Amino acid sequence: MGTLHREKWSSLLSFIWVAAGAAVGLGNIWKFPYMAGSHGGSAFVLMYLFFVLIVAIPVMIAEIMLGKLGQSDAVSSFVYLAKINNLSQRWRYTGYLGYLTLFLVFCFYSVVAGFSIAYFFFAVSNVFGGKNPMEIQSIWVDFLAQPGFLIGCAFLFIFCTMGIVYFGIKKGIERACSWMMPALLLVLAVLVVDSSLSGGFFDALNFLFSFEPEKIEPQIVISSLGHAFFTLAVGACAMMVYGSHLPMRVSVTQAVLVVALLDVVVALLSGMAIFPLIFSFDLSPSQGPGLMFVSLPMVFSKMAFGWFWGSLFFLLLFFAALSSSLSFAEPLVDLCISKGGVRRSTASYLVGCATLMGSIVCALSFNIWSGFKFFSRWNIFDFVADLSTNFLLPLGGIIISLFAGLVIKPEHLFGNNTWKRKIFFPVWRMVIMIIAPLAILIVMVNSLKDMLV
Ligand code: PHE
Repeated sequence: MGTLHREKWSSLLSFIWVAAGAAVGLGNIWKFPYMAGSHGGSAFVLMYLFFVLIVAIPVMIAEIMLGKLGQSDAVSSFVYLAKINNLSQRWRYTGYLGYLTLFLVFCFYSVVAGFSIAYFFFAVSNVFGGKNPMEIQSIWVDFLAQPGFLIGCAFLFIFCTMGIVYFGIKKGIERACSWMMPALLLVLAVLVVDSSLSGGFFDALNFLFSFEPEKIEPQIVISSLGHAFFTLAVGACAMMVYGSHLPMRVSVTQAVLVVALLDVVVALLSGMAIFPLIFSFDLSPSQGPGLMFVSLPMVFSKMAFGWFWGSLFFLLLFFAALSSSLSFAEPLVDLCISKGGVRRSTASYLVGCATLMGSIVCALSFNIWSGFKFFSRWNIFDFVADLSTNFLLPLGGIIISLFAGLVIKPEHLFGNNTWKRKIFFPVWRMVIMIIAPLAILIVMVNSLKDMLV
């Protein structure tokens, strides 16, 4: 086994909070509502739930289990597990692929998370109060046009992330997530209750949950599957590294089910916090990425105590982003420590600086470098975001699934429970070795087609 003396999470509950922290992020609060909004509401929700259940959960079990068996950074875990199973050492490149993906996601994620910091301060200082929709739109446009502002916000976000990671597994990440996640759930509950009193509650319920299978289109299937992976944080070895800090005796399957449930509940509740407001103020649900930064501020500008509800919303977004970014930063810091032999403080500083460089490049693509396009089509931000989430994450997901299918034995997952070993294990193995890779491949090919055509 890798390093058996690796620092461990204090309890299964702590692991659930940190893994839920990784899963619940901008994907749930920012991306899920706008994707549901622009893909027909309930049809997207239905497909997303279906894919979380039948594909993303089994792959998440696989990833965490590999980490738990490897007990080391992702590269060393692949090396060790390949060796004892007589497989090629080349599997270790999956670890490097995961780290590259995490780094790229961290760079663009910090820019959007930085938006949540700026918008939190806008809301607290009542910048939106009494403004008309045109003025709110121009706040957004002016904001994006200021490179120094965007970079400053991204810097603040990276600084917060690295500040927590610097304190390590128990004192940093575990402690932060164990209060941030319950706080996030509380803030979300308050927002849902408030929003349900706004008058658009039943329209929102209808929009998100009416059973309309006839509305399901190929594009909805593809985007909901891609989103299921992104939101459960699988495919980038982040969950693998978190799993490597698990004590051998804990059950991965139970923990994954709780984390996935929390993740889905937060996504649905975010929808229930946002759409009633959107409907009661007669705005369109299909705004796309601007839903959070343009449509919602339009709502807050007209609401009683809009500054207060707005601040809570952006605080929620910040907590969600921060708890996820810990899962990008920790594996990178862990890699620098184990492969580079540096101290945690140095590793945190180096990862922080490198990410800041990357996020500066991403932030500049909204203004100074907006004319610079890859293949005359993507600006740098879109390229980094699309490449990492639509291509590298799914690719990592396929390789991790296949490897797990070769390496994980029934007793690893289900101990001595013969019934589960005989029934569930073959089903799980079939999903991760055939269904999941095929499904991911279809999504990848389609998103590549979309990207290139
Ligand atoms: N799950 C996170 C979100 O929803 C994003 C993420 C992707 C986290 C990959 C870790 C790894 O925002």
